[in-house]
Amino acid sequence: MAVTYFENQKTFKLDTPNTSYIMGIQDQAGYLLHYYYGKKLNQPDVSHLARTWEPPYTPERNDRDKLSFLDAAPFEYPTGGIGDFREHCLEIRTEGGHNAVELSYRSHSIRRGKQSLPGLPATFGTEADCESLSIILSDELLGLEVELLYTAFTHLDVITRSVKVTNLGTKENVIFLTKVLSACLDMDNQDYSMLSLHGAWARERRMQYRKLGIGRQGVFSERGETSHQDHPFIALTSPNVTQTGGEVYGFHFVYSGNFEAQTGVDQFGVTRTVMGINPYNFCWKLRSGEAFQAPEVVMVYSGEGLGHMTRTYHDLYRNHLIRSAWKDRKRPILINNWEGTYFDFNTEKLLAIARGAAELGIEMLVMDDGWFGNRFDDNRALGDWFVNEQKLPGGLKYLADEINRLGMKFGIWMEPEMVSPDSDLYRAHPDWAIQVPGRRAGLCRNQYVLDLTRPEILEYVWERICAILKSAHIEYVKWDMNRQLADLGSFALESDRQGELYHRYVLAVYELQERLHREFPEILLENCSGGGARFDPGMLYYSPQIWCSDDTDAIERLAIQEGTALIYPLSTIGAHVSDCPNHTVGRITPFETRGHVALAGTFGYELDITRLSQQDRDMIPRQVELYHRYNDLVREGDYYRIASYRENHEFDCWQVVSKDRKQALVTFVQVLGRANYHSRVLRLQGLDPDACYRIQGTDRIFGGDTLMYAGLSMENMWGDFRSGLISLVRVAKNN
Ligand code: DGJ
Repeated sequence: MAVTYFENQKTFKLDTPNTSYIMGIQDQAGYLLHYYYGKKLNQPDVSHLARTWEPPYTPERNDRDKLSFLDAAPFEYPTGGIGDFREHCLEIRTEGGHNAVELSYRSHSIRRGKQSLPGLPATFGTEADCESLSIILSDELLGLEVELLYTAFTHLDVITRSVKVTNLGTKENVIFLTKVLSACLDMDNQDYSMLSLHGAWARERRMQYRKLGIGRQGVFSERGETSHQDHPFIALTSPNVTQTGGEVYGFHFVYSGNFEAQTGVDQFGVTRTVMGINPYNFCWKLRSGEAFQAPEVVMVYSGEGLGHMTRTYHDLYRNHLIRSAWKDRKRPILINNWEGTYFDFNTEKLLAIARGAAELGIEMLVMDDGWFGNRFDDNRALGDWFVNEQKLPGGLKYLADEINRLGMKFGIWMEPEMVSPDSDLYRAHPDWAIQVPGRRAGLCRNQYVLDLTRPEILEYVWERICAILKSAHIEYVKWDMNRQLADLGSFALESDRQGELYHRYVLAVYELQERLHREFPEILLENCSGGGARFDPGMLYYSPQIWCSDDTDAIERLAIQEGTALIYPLSTIGAHVSDCPNHTVGRITPFETRGHVALAGTFGYELDITRLSQQDRDMIPRQVELYHRYNDLVREGDYYRIASYRENHEFDCWQVVSKDRKQALVTFVQVLGRANYHSRVLRLQGLDPDACYRIQGTDRIFGGDTLMYAGLSMENMWGDFRSGLISLVRVAKNN
């Protein structure tokens, strides 16, 4: 049983293979309090952790100090306006202008499997995979019902949470939700640090630790998208956590818009962590009978360091979030023309690239930005989704057919959410852009965001997507999104619903991508947002891979891909070999190293192959061969972080081990060469200690225990930015 209710103690216990999550109903008022989350417990009796037996006691025993209780108790879903002065999850405004919400337990139900969340991405599982708990709380005075939804996975250390708020009041009753977070966790502070992922354009998802102190700290997006800058993930880590040791509590939000993840220590040394939709400019009008569904938070506890958390998220997302027909398939090796040509291309040029690529074993040509309308640069034509026949005579069909004739697949770039002021679409419908009436909306990359919350606009965009995709044999789509949202305003929403726009926008994007998923199930969709600004679990529900960063430099990618792989499977990480000097940082790295780094992702090329040096071109067939040899392992195996250049400033190393532990691949990147040192010894992980492994291409055989506990020596390499792959294969002991 993954979920148990102990009637005598009024306690709920959720169990995963190695963790327990325990909460209980307290007091006559029916408060739902959190007791424990962490390493698995046999017994449910941990109610003492809620400290209701010590001052200020529960209101039942000490009503005169109710507020002191509310400000100290570990609430499972804290609400605003009644005396819990910490960060709460639910805040409202009634028509009378009041904000107090007090929730009491009403009922609960337990069932096998997991329900989907209407209109939202969410993890899924069969009856064998998981068990779910629904707890109904309500505020009778307001006529407000809150359903807390939990799922415990039976084979993974994952517990998910989400929340549904329903207005059950009388017909005229209107409640404005001003904040609906999805999860809260109160625990004693064990000297935790907060691990989070930060960046900027071309510098996404770099890891950062901050020690928790008194006060609130967190990560936020108010940009209408997940963002380059912050990521909807935090983990609480115990002191000196490593890959293999220490405690980690991971929280990841399955959402692609504004978010808040906050933690901090209060006056009593309690750590409260919350996560959900950012309340910034959020106000959802809930009429009687209406419900608001908040997105899902995925929680992972690891008592064995960061590595176990990482591999748990990887397994969850590969098996219980990504739905694409491509999720378990080897993806075609693509060549994308963006860094190769930017906007300066035509059919002839693309075919020349395709011919050169096909000869070397590359399997798909992706035509990036610039094939439609008057799109000769990034100042115009977004929204005009009609082929530019000047550039592409014969249209997409001719080009796709020619490319198919070479034995290659064909894919295209689109940015369906946007409109350029200099476009036929904008000239015809200037009111289709998100904007505040009377104020000229700010531009970003010279473009506006379409108000997809309006059905007629969404339908228009969908019609265009369908027309394009049906016009030729298109097998891949890169769906880009190159600006943040600002000047929020929709001509279709009443004034008291304008605060719904951010969330409605995200729902509309999900609606379009859901249609794409259903109507074109065989198309390989890669999401993208000016690089990796919308790399989040929400988008993975629709696409099995996401472009990780516009920075394709192999050395810059080390920290970006390390931070991304902390929670995302390598199969989801868009990674390409590009030209040098690198277009973002001007660095020159060996072609071989660029290949090794891209192999830890989806793998592809992004350069003009017709202008590549002969020496680099000659390396492509070998890289193609490596991809085919190792991609099953990289896509499906267990990922281990062995060393981090971000920490040691000299070298990076990661390892992938097949689930049956018969095969492993170690990638080593020496960023800086060094003089007069011994070779490095690296302790591998995840192997079978009782098995023997051969280093492929040699006759050297080591025990798994030797490789993990004594280590493998890596010879110093000559030069900077050098890299190597070590492939290990299990062999019979007497071999
Ligand atoms: C941003 C993407 O990240 C790039 O790869 C490229 O597709 C450009 N947009 C095209 O405008």
